[in-house]
Amino acid sequence: MVPKTYFQVILFLLSSLYVTSSSNRVADYDNWISWNVKNYQKKTILETKWKTQDLILRKAESNKVRIIVSQDGAGDFKTITEALTSIAPHNTRRVIVLIAPGVYREKVMVPRTLPFITFLGDARDPPIITGNETASATGRTFQSATVAVDASYFIAINIKFENTAPHEIGSRGGQGVALRISGTKAAFYNCTFYGNQDTLYDHKGLHYFNNCFIQGSVDFIFGSGRSLYENCYLNSITKKVASITAQKRTNSSLESGFSFKDSVVTGSGQVYLGRAWGDYSRVVFSFTYMDKIVISKGWSDWGDQKRDLRVYYGEYKCSGPGANLTGRVPWTRMLTDEEAKPFIGIQFIEGDTWLISP
Ligand SMILES: *[C@@H]1O[C@H](CO)[C@@H](O)[C@H](O)[C@H]1NC(C)=O
Ligand SMILES: *[C@@H]1O[C@H](CO)[C@@H](O)[C@H](O)[C@H]1NC(C)=O
Ligand SMILES: *[C@@H]1O[C@H](CO)[C@@H](O)[C@H](O)[C@H]1NC(C)=O
Ligand SMILES: *[C@@H]1O[C@H](CO)[C@@H](O)[C@H](O)[C@H]1NC(C)=O
Repeated sequence: MVPKTYFQVILFLLSSLYVTSSSNRVADYDNWISWNVKNYQKKTILETKWKTQDLILRKAESNKVRIIVSQDGAGDFKTITEALTSIAPHNTRRVIVLIAPGVYREKVMVPRTLPFITFLGDARDPPIITGNETASATGRTFQSATVAVDASYFIAINIKFENTAPHEIGSRGGQGVALRISGTKAAFYNCTFYGNQDTLYDHKGLHYFNNCFIQGSVDFIFGSGRSLYENCYLNSITKKVASITAQKRTNSSLESGFSFKDSVVTGSGQVYLGRAWGDYSRVVFSFTYMDKIVISKGWSDWGDQKRDLRVYYGEYKCSGPGANLTGRVPWTRMLTDEEAKPFIGIQFIEGDTWLISP
């Protein structure tokens, strides 16, 4: 249970201080617990502000338009880029871009000035948006994305995002992003993300992924987003040792983190669940089936031991051979019900204020 009254909060904090003043690690943990409690309180205070944002969203949803992209000329546009270019900037209504089946070899940018865009594909034959750019070819990992979204309120349903750049073992600059999401309040349903190194750049903002398939070799879910992944299938194609996530959190006051719930971790190679990109990296897996590919240590500090005291790597009610706790690094957190609670619902991403049913 999360403490509810002010009095309970004080008691709770005092008792945790009393029990745990013995080490830095536990002090950090207490700091985090108190942050989490405060966050719950702040949420109530900020409710009014969020209601305003909801109004903007509600207005956009009540006034939707649809445009059709089809390569055979039967729609309004033949490419996704043409469709996006047709939308007047700073639109206040949702624009549903219906994308007919096909392979779209396009580098797609959804700029900050185009909020409320939905990419909607056909569930039986999802369109594939593909590219093969790499960090070395474009100068930066950031630039390699096949699809880059800087806008808020983006939604994708039944879309395959792909980056086919091969990853040579030991090569530099081979990172090839399939999707970069930098806008906030974005949701992905029934989407597929194919790539090798750095497939899904969960860059920043509040994000929701449901029923998605995410494949890659190294750090294939990475970035500073605050994201909830539900019913997702994480498929490693590494041939050696790699990490599935590289969550970046450089400061204890940042609210970013990845939460995976009711998901599956499988594929090839030997994988860590996460490696710390920044001292305060935060990742939680709950109710997730973990195949034997998960290395028994579970997590990596990326060679920087001071991170052992600062990262928040939690597991809760996971199953499968990879979830066996024997051999886990001592700084893994086996979460209690109370500790897990903030991570295992849409409140982790403030979803109750912006997630709409697709
Ligand atoms: C990337 O794709 C283009 C277009 O299909 C192709 O011409 C090029 O050879 C590919 N590059 C690599 C490195 O695979
Ligand atoms: C996603 O796929 C499932 C079947 O796997 C289907 O039941 C659901 O309606 C789809 N969701 C959307 C938003 O199309
Ligand atoms: C963490 O970030 C906050 C807000 O950006 C900033 O005020 C604070 O100085 C940062 N702390 C550290 C240790 O960098
Ligand atoms: C976990 O792994 C250890 C060491 O390999 C093994 O002895 C133990 O039986 C395993 N536990 C479960 C529940 O499979």
